[in-house]
Amino acid sequence: MLDVRPATDAMTDAIVALLAKFQNPDIDAVRWRRLLTYPWRRPDEAPGFVLCAAERVVGFLGTVHSTLRAAGETHRVCHLAAWITDAAHRTGGAHLMREALGLERTLVNMTPVPALARFLVTQGFRTLEDRAIVFDGARGWCPPWRRSRIVTDADEMAAILDADGQRLLRDHYGYPCVQCVAVRGRSACPVLYTIRPAGGTRTAWLHHAGDLATFLASLPAFARHVARVHGVDAIAVESRMLRGWRPRRFREQLLETPRVYRACGLAAEAISNAYSEIPLLGL
Ligand SMILES: CC(C)(COP(=O)(O)OP(=O)(O)OC[C@H]1O[C@@H](n2cnc3c(N)ncnc32)[C@H](O)[C@@H]1OP(=O)(O)O)[C@@H](O)C(=O)NCCC(=O)NCCS
Repeated sequence: MLDVRPATDAMTDAIVALLAKFQNPDIDAVRWRRLLTYPWRRPDEAPGFVLCAAERVVGFLGTVHSTLRAAGETHRVCHLAAWITDAAHRTGGAHLMREALGLERTLVNMTPVPALARFLVTQGFRTLEDRAIVFDGARGWCPPWRRSRIVTDADEMAAILDADGQRLLRDHYGYPCVQCVAVRGRSACPVLYTIRPAGGTRTAWLHHAGDLATFLASLPAFARHVARVHGVDAIAVESRMLRGWRPRRFREQLLETPRVYRACGLAAEAISNAYSEIPLLGL
C-alpha cells in the first residue's frame, strides 16, 4: 500500500539515501541534505512529498518554497526538484506529482529532464526560459565613466544591502554559489552566480541580480571581478532576466531543457533562480 506524506526531518536520512539513486557525481549526500534543510524553509512547510510503502521511503519530490516580492505584491513560489521513485515502485511517482500540482502558488521546474518538461506542459506549465545570452565580459559595452565597484566582504555586503538583500545573503551563505554586491553611486545590487561551463567554456552564470539597472551599469566591473577571481571571461544571463537588454556582441545558447512554470499571477521576468535547487545543489 503506497501513500504520500509531507517529508519530515525524521525522514531526511532515508530521503538522502533515495536521492543517491540519481547517481549524479556532482551532488553528494551533503548537497542533497541541503535541499531538504534550506534556511528559508518555514516550519509549517515540508521540503517535499514522500511516497511511503509500509513506512519505508520509496519516492520523493522536492518542494523548495519561497516568498517573492514583485510589483509591490507578495507571491508564494514553489520550485519542484528531484522527483524520484525507487525501481520497485515505479508507477507510484504520479501520486507525488499530483500532490505538488495541487499547490495553489506559482510552480516552477528549473531543471526538468525532457520527459518531465513535456509532461508538465500537459499539466498547464509554460516555458519560463529556453536560452541564455552569453557574452565576453572583457569587451566594454558601457560608457567608461559609469564607475562601479564589486564588494565581496560578507560584513561590508551586509552593511550596504537593504533588508531583502541581507536576507538573500543570509539565505545562501555556505551554499555552492557565489555572492557579491555591485555598488554604483548609492545603489547596491546583490548578485548571485555560479561558475560552470557554457559551450565548453567556464562561464559565470548569473542567477539573480536584485536591481537590473545597477547590475547592467556595473557589468564592466563585474566582468573584471569574475576574470580576476575565477579566471573566467564569459558571462551568461538567462534571456528573461535581461528584460530585452542585449550586449553589443553575444551569442544565444539554448538551455539543455527549457525551464517551465505555472504562474499564479506572477510574471516570468520576476522569477529568478535564487530560491531554487540551482544554488542549493550548485547546478
Ligand atoms: C520520474 C519518476 C519519478 C516518475 O515516477 P514513476 O513512478 O515512474 O511514474 P508514474 O508511472 O507514476 O507516472 C509518471 C507520469 O509522469 C510522466 N513523466 C514525466 N516525466 C517522467 C519521467 N522522467 N519518467 C517517467 N515518467 C515521467 C509520465 O508520462 C506519467 O504520466 P502519464 O501517466 O500521464 O503518462 C521515475 O520514473 C524515476 O524515479 N525516474 C528516475 C529519476 C528521474 O528521471 N527523475 C525526473 C527528473 S527530476
